[in-house]
Amino acid sequence: MTIKNITILGSGIMGHGIAQVSAMAGYKVFLRDIEQKFLDKAMEKIRWSLQKLSEKNKITSDEVDTIYNSITPIVDLRAATNNTDLIIEAVPEDFRLKEKVYDELNEIVRNDIIFASNTSTLPITELSKLTNRPQNFIGVHFFNPPQLMKLVEIIPGTQTNPQVVEEITNYVISLKKHPVICKKDVSGFIVNRIFIPLVHEALFSLDRDGVSMDIIDSAVKFKLDFPMGIFELADYTGLDVVYKASYEMNLRDKKVLVMHPKVKELYDNNQLGQKTGKGFYEYKDDNYERVNLTQEKSALYDPLSILGVAANNAAWLIENEVCTLEDLNTALKLGMGLKTEIFELVKTLNTSKVIKRLSELEKEQGDFYHPNKYLENIQ
Ligand code: 3HC
Repeated sequence: MTIKNITILGSGIMGHGIAQVSAMAGYKVFLRDIEQKFLDKAMEKIRWSLQKLSEKNKITSDEVDTIYNSITPIVDLRAATNNTDLIIEAVPEDFRLKEKVYDELNEIVRNDIIFASNTSTLPITELSKLTNRPQNFIGVHFFNPPQLMKLVEIIPGTQTNPQVVEEITNYVISLKKHPVICKKDVSGFIVNRIFIPLVHEALFSLDRDGVSMDIIDSAVKFKLDFPMGIFELADYTGLDVVYKASYEMNLRDKKVLVMHPKVKELYDNNQLGQKTGKGFYEYKDDNYERVNLTQEKSALYDPLSILGVAANNAAWLIENEVCTLEDLNTALKLGMGLKTEIFELVKTLNTSKVIKRLSELEKEQGDFYHPNKYLENIQ
């Protein structure tokens, strides 16, 4: 089947970004949300992003209008889906909400249309069972901001037809993005299995080590070469996304992270990060804004436990054959902007020190920190 028209359900951070990159690749896009005000905000953000890309000569000013006009914001679900070839669901990470959306879709959408979910953590096989087409169901996980991040994880469920995997892979390539297949439908897939636990670990580090958030973030940025600090990235991603992802991951797999209560507290207080003006840090408004992190502050902290937790989860992915080492490195580079490969960082910070720190934390805080055997081979 040739995909020409695409419907994106949900116009939040991910939905509007996926709509934009699809339109940039020449698809006609229907962007659907439940209220016009969400769509207005999304279209405003799309216009801002297109203008940024045109300032940087990535697209021409004529293209700004053509791309913008090829996205139809729409509230009516039937109208948004009656002339589409692919539906990408990007509604909030709530299993019951997704169930409701798939119930509605099952009623009105032809069986041969592929449903793809941009879920960040929910198991694809479980979600596929909510639909009347598990063979035509697949995970297609973009990274924030979809306009800039090159990675897309593709997660087949146990019943997904191989032809659907091929069609979605071709769609991702047509966006000039890099697909990585997640071979097992595990909690957090590849990148979130590493990123989400780090938010909790950064909070535990804050409690243990008595330094400030911007010091920890500066160390992550300058010593681990991440493009953003962990608290900064959590605010940028949204504490709603981080909390829901943490909850769903923890529900299904107790080994993947230890929950720090602060994440739920921020979520409950609607301190969701940049989009609400306050999360870990405060922001002037909901526009793109960076936290002031510096080399000087980074000298005050050694992010051993943060790297240790990331490397432990990375080792778990390799050990369990969720992905190859090569795909892991590509995923972290293109999905989280890591400039240095994760196990190279372990070497740089000193493998023995990282393992020693994990062992100390295992004694203090339990099994979660048990250093993975794989780390011993990193010399
Ligand atoms: N569209 C177009 N331009 C954008 C943009 C967007 N959506 N967002 C930011 N920009 C622009 C900025 O405005 C800036 O423009 P300027 O030069 O005119 O000021 C330019 O991009 C570069 O931004 P920065 O100067 O802040 O520099 P960076 O080099 O750090 O790039 C970044 C920004 C690509 C966001 C980089 O910081 C990064 O890779 N951060 C990590 C992001 C990440 O890890 N994402 C994954 C999170 S996990 C996830 O999404 C999964 C989910 O399921 C939870």
